[in-house]
Amino acid sequence: MRPFCFLALLGASVLVRAHKFDLGKRSGGDCSAMPKGKGPVPSPDSPYAFLNSEELASAANKAPTPSGYKQSFKNLHASTTANGYLGYVALDSYDTTLCASKCDEQESCQAINIFFERNPTLQVGSECPNPPSTTYIKCVFWGDLVTKDNTNNTGYTNNAFLVVAAGSNGYNNQTAKGVEGFASKGLSTPGAALLVVPLLAMILAILP
Ligand SMILES: *[C@@H]1O[C@H](CO)[C@@H](O)[C@H](O)[C@H]1NC(C)=O
Ligand SMILES: *[C@@H]1O[C@H](CO)[C@@H](O)[C@H](O)[C@H]1NC(C)=O
Repeated sequence: MRPFCFLALLGASVLVRAHKFDLGKRSGGDCSAMPKGKGPVPSPDSPYAFLNSEELASAANKAPTPSGYKQSFKNLHASTTANGYLGYVALDSYDTTLCASKCDEQESCQAINIFFERNPTLQVGSECPNPPSTTYIKCVFWGDLVTKDNTNNTGYTNNAFLVVAAGSNGYNNQTAKGVEGFASKGLSTPGAALLVVPLLAMILAILP
């Protein structure tokens, strides 16, 4: 009798563990803290306020064009998905000159896309589907020209949290070659795969 009870208990505990593991996988993040960005968080803390923030728009609109670069677009609500993704850095301020100088340090860098990105302060999961936001200032490096046309990543949803971009500016190195002659077509930005629907259009459509 006793060994049977023991085995039954063991079996039950394994089942419970397996069940918990499955639930954990389905719920996504564990609500642990995520790194904070250095950009301003609009009030109220909503995607709508973020997308309509005067402060974010004005930072983008008044940013100087780095010397040796040509401005390609200004203050868009999307990030670039060009060819030749070369990574990004998070900046302490919306500093186009600093972003460009970090591009110049990389031999194949031809262009930069700088923008504010709304990110969750916690690892989003079923227990925290829509946590408060933090604003990253991203400086993304590209091995190909950034244009208004390829700046079409309007964001994605993570549970109920909306990751969106604002104040997105693009600059191309003046000596950059034309679009032809690049063999880096296969590369793409991580997260581009998560772009399912034009979120911005959706958000704007449901607002008065
Ligand atoms: C532009 O690209 C050229 C060639 O890759 C590079 O030498 C230069 O540092 C880049 N930056 C500027 C501002 O010209
Ligand atoms: C965004 O632009 C890139 C580059 O032009 C293109 O490959 C991609 O299909 C576009 N994505 C959407 C959703 O329009």
